[in-house]
Amino acid sequence: MENKKEIISKIKKLANEKNAIILAHNYQIPDVQDLADLTGDSLALSIQASKTDADIIIFCGVHFMAEAASIVCPDKKVIIPVLDAGCAMADMLNAEQLRQMKREHPGVPVVTYVNSTAEVKAESDICCTSANAIQVVKWTKSKEVIMTPDRNLASWVQRHTDQKVYAWDGYCPIHNDLTVEAVKKAMEKHPGAVLMAHPECPPEVLELAPVVRSTSGMLKYAKESKEKEFIVATETGLLHPLKKANPDKKFYPAWDDMICADMKKTGLMDILKSLENETPVVKVPEEIRIKAFKAVERMMEVPRD
Ligand code: 13P
Ligand code: SF4
Repeated sequence: MENKKEIISKIKKLANEKNAIILAHNYQIPDVQDLADLTGDSLALSIQASKTDADIIIFCGVHFMAEAASIVCPDKKVIIPVLDAGCAMADMLNAEQLRQMKREHPGVPVVTYVNSTAEVKAESDICCTSANAIQVVKWTKSKEVIMTPDRNLASWVQRHTDQKVYAWDGYCPIHNDLTVEAVKKAMEKHPGAVLMAHPECPPEVLELAPVVRSTSGMLKYAKESKEKEFIVATETGLLHPLKKANPDKKFYPAWDDMICADMKKTGLMDILKSLENETPVVKVPEEIRIKAFKAVERMMEVPRD
C-alpha cells in the first residue's frame, strides 16, 4: 500500500500531464479537499467548471454535481471518481413527476435546485442553488413559482417573498433529520456561539438561526465575522474548511450525526484510479443537456450579492 504522500504526488503529476482540474465540494473528506485545485459550494463549482480551460474535470462530489459540470462543459471529459456517490434528495424527483406537477400548475415557472438530476433540470425554467434561491425566485417576477425538489429550501424562500411557492415534497435526509432539540442542546452547551444553518434544514431549525447560508456562504460569514464561536447546522464536512480558514475561531457541529455517506465515498485512491483510467465519465445526453443548460444559463444571469 502506497503512503498518502506518494498517492498525492502521483495524482498531481498525472493531473498536470493530462491537463485535469480537481474540484471538490465543501463536504468531501479533508484529504480530498486539501488536494483539490478548487473547493466550494454547488454554485461556485458550477461556475468554475464553466470557466476552466482544463481538458478533464475530476469532480469530487455527488452525481448531480458532475452532471452539472457536464451540462456546462460538453466538450470536456467530466469524471466522478466514485460513480455511485449520489444525492438522496436529487433522487426524490424524476422528470415525469415534474411534468405532472407542471400540468397541475399550468404556465407557472419552475425553479429547480441544482441538487436535481439533469432530466429534471431539463424540465425546468431556471436553476438555483442554496446561495441564490431567493434572488432567483424574485428575478422570475412571476406571482407563482414551482420549486423543486427541496421543500425546506422552498419554505425558506417563501418566508422571503410575496410570490406563491408550490414546493415538491423532497428533502435532504441529513439536514431534514436535524431537530430543534438537538440544536437547543448545542446552544446550551455553547452559549454565545452564533448558529449558522443551511437552508436544507427544517423550517423550525431555520427559525432559530440568525445566519442561513450555503456552505460557501457560511465560510464567508465566519471569516468576516467578529464573533469567535459558531454552531454549524450542516453536513459536518464543512467543519474542516471552517477550522482551516479560521484557526483563531471555534466551530461546533449542531449535531454529530449530520454526515452524508455519499459525500464521504471518494478517497485519494479513487481519484488516482479515475485519473489513470479516465473513468467513470459522466456525460449528459445532448438533447437533455441543451434544455438543462438553458436553465443553468438563466441562473448565471441572475445578479449575485
Ligand atoms: P451547497 O450548495 O450549499 O454547497 O450545498 C450542497 C449540498 O449538497 C447541501 O446538502
Ligand atoms: Fe444530497 Fe443531502 Fe448529501 Fe447534500 S447532504 S449531497 S443534499 S444527500
